[in-house]
Amino acid sequence: MADILVLGSLNLDLIVRTQRLPAPGETVLGSAFLTAPGGKGANQAVAAAKLGAPVKMIGRVGADDFGKTLRHTLSAVGVDAQYLVTDNETATGVASIWVDERGQNSILVAPGANARVSRADVDAAAAAFHNARVMVAQLEIPLDTVHYAFQCARKQNCLVILNPAPAQSLSRKILELVDLAIPNETEAAQLTGMLVQDFESARNAANVIKQMGARRVLVTLGAQGALFLDDAAPAQALPPFSVQAVDTTAAGDAFIGALAAGLARNQDWTTSLREASAAGALAATKLGAQPSLPTRAELDEFLRSHAAVAPFTLQ
Ligand code: RIB
Repeated sequence: MADILVLGSLNLDLIVRTQRLPAPGETVLGSAFLTAPGGKGANQAVAAAKLGAPVKMIGRVGADDFGKTLRHTLSAVGVDAQYLVTDNETATGVASIWVDERGQNSILVAPGANARVSRADVDAAAAAFHNARVMVAQLEIPLDTVHYAFQCARKQNCLVILNPAPAQSLSRKILELVDLAIPNETEAAQLTGMLVQDFESARNAANVIKQMGARRVLVTLGAQGALFLDDAAPAQALPPFSVQAVDTTAAGDAFIGALAAGLARNQDWTTSLREASAAGALAATKLGAQPSLPTRAELDEFLRSHAAVAPFTLQ
């Protein structure tokens, strides 16, 4: 099977559970505290690897214990970490995450080494592009590096997936390199200046993102499901699998990793999207980013025991 190449962030997540999130200036007593490996890039790499895909990751960690832990957790699930740079100048990225009783979260990231992922890091991984079918990146590392890596990926005919998270405005020159943009509601709103809150508004925003250059657009809508706009077909609403959310952290990353895994093994879009929805739903049922990402066996069992609501066309 061809490789998935993930370019992105690695963070050590510091997670506090709380009944409700604090308002500015307020102190709230939370409940459980735990640490877990995270970072959108690493989460997506691990999500695909746990489903059996061969994954290589390009990124940076600091020369500290958090960095060692994150490198080890990638290797433990089979992600090839040979292109992970240990940066002696700065600390490993850290994310402070608050999770409320409904499973909703707020995340504040100190990027650390992620902010120094460079074109040179991409060049150092040049050999990895040759056997890659899918390249995935997010925006917790410098945009210039993402842009450069996408140019390299297109030269090798990789399918280029961009998860534009955290939300920021993007130019046509980067979106034109993207085969599939996967924003959530907030990111789609930031990209388009439109309010995105349901299938219809997601379809309208997806149309605009396509006009901005992306070939296909998939807007994830949390518990409402997702909206897929293919290159030559009407928009499809993808209803969600219904689960009891414990922590939605990395549910989107699980979705993206599973989709990349399906596409990398040449699976059709319908099956890959159904597996991605299931992986996202499963990740929301457990606390923490990488600890919540399903294995192949867990995903298959979930798909056997949960009926999917069929996608429908939005006119
Ligand atoms: O998408 C979830 C991730 O966002 C967390 O793991 C955190 O590290 C931030 O990068």
